[in-house]
Amino acid sequence: MSEKNNTFYITTPIYYPSDKLHIGHTYSTVAADTMARYKRLKGFDVFFLTGTDEHGQKIEDKAAEAGVTPKEYVDNIVAGIQDLWKLMNISNDKFIRTTDEYHEKAVQKIFQKMYDKGDIYMGKYEGLYCKPCESFWTETQAADGKCPDCGRPVYKAEEEAYFFKLSNYTDKLVEYYESHPGFIEPVSRQNEMINNFIKPGLQDLCISRSTFKWGIPVPVNPDHVIYVWLDALTNYITALGYAGDDDSLYQKFWPADVHFIGKDIVRFHTIYWPAFLMSLDIPCPDKVYAHGWVLLEGGKMSKSKGNVVDPVILAERYGVDALRYYLLREIAFGSDGVFSNENLINRINSDLANDLGNLLSRTVSMVQKYFDGTVPESRESGEFDAKLIETAKTAAEKAEQDLDSINFSVALTDIWKLISATNKYIDETTPWILAKDESNKAKLANVMYNLCECLRITSVLIAPFMPDTSAEIRNQLGIGDKFTWSEAYEYGKEKTYSVVKGKIIFPRLDMEKEIEELSSVSAAPVNPLKAEIEGVAKISIDEFAKTDLRAAKIVDCFPVKKAKKLLQLTLDVGTGESRTVASGIAKWYKPEELIGKTVVLVSNLNPAVLCGVESCGMILAADVGEDDVKVIFLDDSVPAGSKIR
Ligand code: MSP
Repeated sequence: MSEKNNTFYITTPIYYPSDKLHIGHTYSTVAADTMARYKRLKGFDVFFLTGTDEHGQKIEDKAAEAGVTPKEYVDNIVAGIQDLWKLMNISNDKFIRTTDEYHEKAVQKIFQKMYDKGDIYMGKYEGLYCKPCESFWTETQAADGKCPDCGRPVYKAEEEAYFFKLSNYTDKLVEYYESHPGFIEPVSRQNEMINNFIKPGLQDLCISRSTFKWGIPVPVNPDHVIYVWLDALTNYITALGYAGDDDSLYQKFWPADVHFIGKDIVRFHTIYWPAFLMSLDIPCPDKVYAHGWVLLEGGKMSKSKGNVVDPVILAERYGVDALRYYLLREIAFGSDGVFSNENLINRINSDLANDLGNLLSRTVSMVQKYFDGTVPESRESGEFDAKLIETAKTAAEKAEQDLDSINFSVALTDIWKLISATNKYIDETTPWILAKDESNKAKLANVMYNLCECLRITSVLIAPFMPDTSAEIRNQLGIGDKFTWSEAYEYGKEKTYSVVKGKIIFPRLDMEKEIEELSSVSAAPVNPLKAEIEGVAKISIDEFAKTDLRAAKIVDCFPVKKAKKLLQLTLDVGTGESRTVASGIAKWYKPEELIGKTVVLVSNLNPAVLCGVESCGMILAADVGEDDVKVIFLDDSVPAGSKIR
């Protein structure tokens, strides 16, 4: 990474607020946080950005299913994501939401600039079309000629759309790759891009949609919304104020030193993104680093399989630092790795409890026991000192090289060599034997001092990975919490240690008990229903009573134009006036199956406008299985308007 003027700009992908984030998402962010913290310790002026990618059809559909507006839908989930980053101790300097007004305005200016340059033209998107659902499909998606959503026949159709002249950038992209070795890492990803996309020839890119509304309107034609990836990728510059009121951060930090991303989104970041930037005449990022996937033994995590690993459960149970350590130690950053509860507990027990935790508690106890808690620097050189001091120096050098080459797992392995060597030093110097003879006092002090120094150096080296543990070690060593990376090289920097007994930093875990308990609360694989019921907060009867539930008869029902998931219902609620409700059940019910039925209405919900329909209430339905919904029907004998409690 080539840092400019001592600044360092690092980003994570911005996350879709469509589902709860799992441990795979946490991985990207923890890695970026570790790098940001490392660079800060090295004295860089760091800007670390993360955020959420909130537009697009998927969100619009999910909001409709939930019976809320897209903005209400995302607000709720984004708050949860921000809480997760707080819990994981993520030190981002900014959190961007693509629904932030400044971003939306800047994206429109960006579109306009590319349009004025002649890089955007109106064309036709051709594909298979399902009229009732108003959705486009590719030949592969609708291979049997039927709409994957509703099963009705699709036909060939075209939609007017704006296109970006991506094909014009082929040579410039290849030139950029060639003149910037290290732009795409690991290098195997660059070969994939060249062989799979560039060589076969880049097609122009469709960058607008007109079949849904939840997006940033195209400035030259508000019937279209801007393609989510153009909207999302530009977050990396709009967050800095590009095309906004104050672009001083952009001037200071752009181009980015590194975008951390998962391997599934390399094409967007190494083909589309640099091409967009070239079109805007602004420099490309120095590096895009694509990490691998956190997999489960059975393959990928997915909500429908019920096997997503919840970082909150693990962090609350074992501590944030244990989880951060595990993720970065267990998986080589550019490769895939398998998460398992067993591996996690093994790592906690061996590396954290046994190696690091024991070293700290033994050292603190011995300094208290033999020196009443205070040990000064000792110049008495012992037989094993030189080797230990050399190991400390090597650990710092190696960890620095490893972090500079974005090799987190190797950096931790190199740091742990110092921890092991320090533990070994205790066995070699046998302080408990030295303590038996008063004439060995100076030697014993020397041993204690070296232990403290090695722990201090460890506290510096692990700080980017495990900030709280680093602070706790320093607290127990009785030294300050302000330090720089270079202090890891300064053996003998601290002159006196006055230790303070503190908590056990990583208590040893009982493997069998943990595995049993974990399999009932998290990780692979769980019964999602049980987990959900157990995770739901209790409410009082008074809180429940605030919900007004009424029997309502469906007197009319029809599909909502432009919202394939929604049905518009007209309800008789027993008051003489009818009520309109939009419900995201079109996938499971045809209007004729509903008309005449009595359902349960939540009558006192705030009205919400869903795809142009003002919905006044919500009807109740049950989620059945992975992807099925059953409306709750009442007996015909229940008159409309009856209160349900
Ligand atoms: N919104 C886009 C990114 C836009 S960036 C301008 C997106 N969002 S995402 O929420 O689906 O994924 C965010 C990141 O999480 C991606 O880098 C993705 O690779 C990563 N991961 C999602 N699941 C993962 C694992 N199981 N393991 C590791 N990373 C994974 O893509």
